[in-house]
Amino acid sequence: TKPPVVVTVTGAAGTIGYAALFRVAAGAMLGHDQPVILRLLELPAAIGAAEGIAMELDDCALPQLVDVQIYDDPRAAFDGVNHALLIGAKPRTKGMERADLLSANASIFAAQGAVLNDVAADDVRVTVVGNPANTNAAIAARNAPDIPPSRFSALTRLDHNRAIAQLSARAGVPVTAIDGVTIWGNHSATQYPDIFHARVGDRTGAQLAEDRTWLVDDFIPTVAQRGSAIIAARGASSAASAANGTIDHVQDWALGTPGDSWTSAAIVSPGVYGVPEGLVCSFPVRSNGTDWQIVEGLEINDFSRARIDASVAELQSEIAAVDALGDA
Ligand code: NAI
Repeated sequence: TKPPVVVTVTGAAGTIGYAALFRVAAGAMLGHDQPVILRLLELPAAIGAAEGIAMELDDCALPQLVDVQIYDDPRAAFDGVNHALLIGAKPRTKGMERADLLSANASIFAAQGAVLNDVAADDVRVTVVGNPANTNAAIAARNAPDIPPSRFSALTRLDHNRAIAQLSARAGVPVTAIDGVTIWGNHSATQYPDIFHARVGDRTGAQLAEDRTWLVDDFIPTVAQRGSAIIAARGASSAASAANGTIDHVQDWALGTPGDSWTSAAIVSPGVYGVPEGLVCSFPVRSNGTDWQIVEGLEINDFSRARIDASVAELQSEIAAVDALGDA
């Protein structure tokens, strides 16, 4: 049998954590033949809840779950970690300014990046889910100078899956018949779901995009504002679907994307597609089971260019706001 992999989940007692942990422990993320040690990192106030989750994990009697360990100390929780799922973040509360949210989270992710730099396993891969996810990942990466920037990523897979679901409904084809969708930019309302390179059953995304009214007034805003629509309907933010996206993301990263197909992930830009180097931006990506590789050579039309640029401008303004506050 394989040696166990250490998976540390921050914000483990939150709603996404609760939805993710059982599937990770059951092998949905790294495979049913991969033993897993789960580390749950929480704030002191939520350690009791984490202990309850650990009891429930025990009660699943899962064959590949080697151990569950609970921490309120990041240094212990990240010691030797192979996959860090950074889900815990400071939520935006009523009356809180955007700059305050950026600042509070920049402090958390700067500290966690520095600790990962010191104690994580040599092959650590970091997936940031907590918002603002792209900028949090950028801050963590720059506070971890000994970890290659390519090991940091932020989650846009939920947005990617949302785009596929919308296309499936529009075209009346199964999700398995859809390929070549890309989320560009920030995990925010400025994100750009690009279907110009997609295959949708026996049609192309470009053909569907000829209906510009549907594309501009329906598809793009439905995908980009899906999170708000879920909050309005459910009274709580996306949790199971966010957990599912996280699991899909890590699975593709660690086990590789199948064939020629690609997915979307926010990674540190090497300065391609007009995205300045160092920004954590969502791109079309493949994985060989070790690293994300950006799908190169896609033609970007004017329609797409303007939308990618707008989201990239937002990413630049987030980093500038953090830098102006001097928190990270
Ligand atoms: P939640 O509020 O239910 O849980 C967050 C948990 O994180 C809480 O238990 C809290 O105690 C813990 N926490 C906060 N700061 C921490 C720290 N410094 N270290 C360890 N634990 C810490 O929130 P939920 O619904 O689970 O969402 C988590 C994050 O994921 C939020 O920032 C949310 O905006 C984001 N999100 C991201 C998505 C994406 O696609 N990238 C999609 C949906 C949510």
